[in-house]
Amino acid sequence: MIVLKSPDEIKRMAEASRIVAEVLEEIRKSISPGVTTKDLDGIAESIILSRKAVPAFKGYRGYPATVCASINEQVVHGIPSSLKLKQGDILSIDVGVSYKGFYGDAAVTLPVGNISDQAKRLITVTESSLNVGLEKAVAGNRLSDISSMIQNCAESEGFSVVRNFVGHGIGRGLHEEPQIPNYGKPGEGPRLLEGMTLAIEPMINAGGWEVIIENDGWTAVTKDRSLSAHFEHTIAITKNGPTILTKL
Ligand code: MF3
Ligand code: CO
Repeated sequence: MIVLKSPDEIKRMAEASRIVAEVLEEIRKSISPGVTTKDLDGIAESIILSRKAVPAFKGYRGYPATVCASINEQVVHGIPSSLKLKQGDILSIDVGVSYKGFYGDAAVTLPVGNISDQAKRLITVTESSLNVGLEKAVAGNRLSDISSMIQNCAESEGFSVVRNFVGHGIGRGLHEEPQIPNYGKPGEGPRLLEGMTLAIEPMINAGGWEVIIENDGWTAVTKDRSLSAHFEHTIAITKNGPTILTKL
């Protein structure tokens, strides 16, 4: 069952989501060669706690940190560590917050200093794929209209869409129905309705779509070790179209 939210509930989700956006903005400013992903995790956690909010990922199925920090060929769920970022890396940061009973969830992929042209193009295309998907998040459309736009955008640039992980409904739970694949034919799945709140999160690989999970049980990496990027927003479907909640 897909839980619809009232305008007041969406307002409360916007408060949680705003904290997520602030964390990502602060991390964007803090990234540079020599910084560790553990440093970034600490920054994220202190901002969240200072807002009297709760890091949503910490303790989720035993996940040990506030953010997921996935470098280069790591796709998602990288665990922050004392490894230093270096010039030319790309870093995907995913953060979730729970605040006054509601969740917000978002991710960005950021460059560390100067990066290759291919890495730049992967980041740009992944963010565009999220944006073109969001444009289809309109009441009356079908869920897979979002999915197929994302897939077309990524594949028309020669990139591939990760299959093993999907976007999701969000609200009083971090993961609610429906699941939102980033691939598929248009015109399928549930009809989109006003009051649906969704976390849409394309994960796009420069090479093949296959991923493997490392021995830590969390970190997903591309099987062919190609670069991967990830962007995510929490949105609400309103009568005026999609509202992006995790945007400053
Ligand atoms: N954005 C991801 C998701 O919605 C992040 C989850 S990380 C976890 O699943 F640690 F909480 F699993
Ligand atoms: Co998510």
